[in-house]
Amino acid sequence: MSRPPLFTPFASRGVHFRNRLVVSPMCQYQADEGLVNDWHYAHHARFALGGIGGALLEATAVLRDGRISPGCLGIWNDGHIPGLRRLAELYHQHGVPLGVQLAHAGRKASSAVPWQGSGPLTAGSAYPAWPTLAPSALAHNVDWPTPNAASLEDIQQIIDGFAAAARRAVEAGLDFVEIHGAHGYLIHEFFSPLANHRTDAYGGEFAHRARLALEVVRAVRAAVPAQMPVWYRASCVDDGEGGICLGDTVQLAALLAAEGVDLIDCSAGGILGPVARSATVATPGHQVPYAARIRAEAHIPTMAVGLITEALQANQVIADGAADLVALGRALLDDPSFAYHAALALQVPDAHDLLPQSHGFFLARRQARTEVKAT
Ligand code: FNR
Repeated sequence: MSRPPLFTPFASRGVHFRNRLVVSPMCQYQADEGLVNDWHYAHHARFALGGIGGALLEATAVLRDGRISPGCLGIWNDGHIPGLRRLAELYHQHGVPLGVQLAHAGRKASSAVPWQGSGPLTAGSAYPAWPTLAPSALAHNVDWPTPNAASLEDIQQIIDGFAAAARRAVEAGLDFVEIHGAHGYLIHEFFSPLANHRTDAYGGEFAHRARLALEVVRAVRAAVPAQMPVWYRASCVDDGEGGICLGDTVQLAALLAAEGVDLIDCSAGGILGPVARSATVATPGHQVPYAARIRAEAHIPTMAVGLITEALQANQVIADGAADLVALGRALLDDPSFAYHAALALQVPDAHDLLPQSHGFFLARRQARTEVKAT
């Protein structure tokens, strides 16, 4: 019997993934001053032990003011490196490559954590609000503060921040980086006409709106070794009229590929506020067609994400050639051993080898005994 495509290996530059399932970046809101702590270790250990092919750390701020919330991870100074190294070593003990999502939250920075309302912090919040930056002085939504329009100096600082963060990722022993160009955060804000009303070289026509993304990628690519993959998470379509459409993202993806991006992680939305979001009904695998079209037309590997919750469904994404990898978010919070369980469901002969020996050995023996009893 041939191996299910979901459980075939994949290579991105010099990095090898034993299967096609990846931990999607997920903010934990548990950091203080951006530092990794035992929470992050425990959270990631669940996935590292569960057979996953690769993993991404949550949106990790390249500048302190670029944090989404006070609890976000950071990579804006060298003091962050040891904690990140600890997570890299954890995953490496289990043969899993780890990447970090490099992020700047733009006008959506200075937010409260979701279970405290997700809206902007205020001067009276327990953790006081800080000023935010965006392409234009346009608030994310009603009740959100108006950000400062970034000056050319600010833009250069942001690009330098991404490059320095990428160097720290290398120093921490991480295997790859992903640039967060999605979900209404800074790079997406520059690309989307809904948030970018600039009239200079960073706004207006397509090439100007794409400039920041391309300059960040160029700086990051120059900061990391040739064998290190650079991925890019895109919001492939905007959640509002006049925003980015899939054709724009296909075009952007081709330009990113020419700059040395190795994979597009295909998400969507986030540029508008919660009202617009709640009008969008998400169905299983709703973003897979974006990954498929970008892969076919921009000729770059893609990762599909969004309501992929079943082994057969994930396998089909890879079998159809819609994407090269599948990222899982909430399904992994629910079942950190999703990859192992998917391998069993798809009858992968060496499924137990995905687990550490002290787990897999006993589960394999249990299965063998059950099979003998049944015959
Ligand atoms: C997310 N998501 C997310 N995306 C991202 O690009 N960076 C991030 O830091 C986060 N943080 C985050 C936290 C939590 C708790 C959740 C549930 C989600 C989005 C996530 O990566 C993924 O794209 C979506 O959750 C859709 O995939 P699932 O959950 O349907 O598999």
